[in-house]
Amino acid sequence: MLLEAGGRAHADFEDAIRVLDDLHEGLRRREDPAVVAVGIDLDRGRRKADGATPKRALYLPTRPVSPKKEEPTKGTAVTQNWLPALPDVQSKLDAGDRVRIAEVGCGEGLAAITIARRYPNAEVHGYDLDDASIGVAQRAAADAGVGDRVRFEVRDAADPTIEGGYDLVMAIEMLHDVPDPVGILGTMRKLAGRDGTVLVVDERTEDTFTVPTNEMERFFYSFSTLHCLAVSMQNGGIGTGTVIRPDTIRRYAAEAGFSTVDVLDVEHPQFLLYRLA
Ligand SMILES: C[S@@+](CC[C@H](N)C(=O)[O-])C[C@H]1O[C@@H](n2cnc3c(N)ncnc32)[C@H](O)[C@@H]1O
Repeated sequence: MLLEAGGRAHADFEDAIRVLDDLHEGLRRREDPAVVAVGIDLDRGRRKADGATPKRALYLPTRPVSPKKEEPTKGTAVTQNWLPALPDVQSKLDAGDRVRIAEVGCGEGLAAITIARRYPNAEVHGYDLDDASIGVAQRAAADAGVGDRVRFEVRDAADPTIEGGYDLVMAIEMLHDVPDPVGILGTMRKLAGRDGTVLVVDERTEDTFTVPTNEMERFFYSFSTLHCLAVSMQNGGIGTGTVIRPDTIRRYAAEAGFSTVDVLDVEHPQFLLYRLA
């Protein structure tokens, strides 16, 4: 498969997005290792990447995804919109009960620290593979004055030996990145036990691929080919990538032993919320 864009806009955008979907699948199946560059062209396909002459390149017209003023960012949405969509967890937080929360793939701890700042009765444990992110998270928790209730640990969240019991176990924009999403979901299920709640937040994809698809999916495809698909293929990983569709999450959840997956009625331009039980 070869798509040479040469810095010009695609005359037929529908063809381009079809090719990108094929390309993505080819990469996922490890069939097309010769692909060397995908450009996200913010000027609607008119600029060429600096000095780069990739053997294969795809310049996708898209726009940077940033929330509009009135839309909650990832940081604010967690307490304003996402926890309220989990009435059992929210009521415990409101009642002042001790609430134990785990976040797998917590990155720099944005959600964990936001929750701890808002709810003094919340204890949050964040797990992430990346020690640099965990270092940033630990400093940020101390700076925010919540270091006594927020603990961050460098840990592979797919490790079946992780122990603990939590009221809420969440994974925010990480499942599509991991080589072993079923292992991650297995850990989440175990940490939540019989009574805990499991929340997965991931990209707001459509149920199926359509042509020419929407701007958000174009952005996901570009990002996936540049980063997420590759990281999810590490060490023989399953290779999900950014365009993680609801059916994929349902399949992984079933393989991890969950019986139900509900998509919560929460609006967000970039994310869908899944409650697994
Ligand atoms: C896109 S970032 C999201 C970070 C954070 N949840 C947020 O929303 O800002 C994905 C994170 O998952 C982490 N990650 C990937 N695989 C992991 C694994 N097996 N165990 C724990 N963390 C992992 C990465 O290091 C990265 O910090």
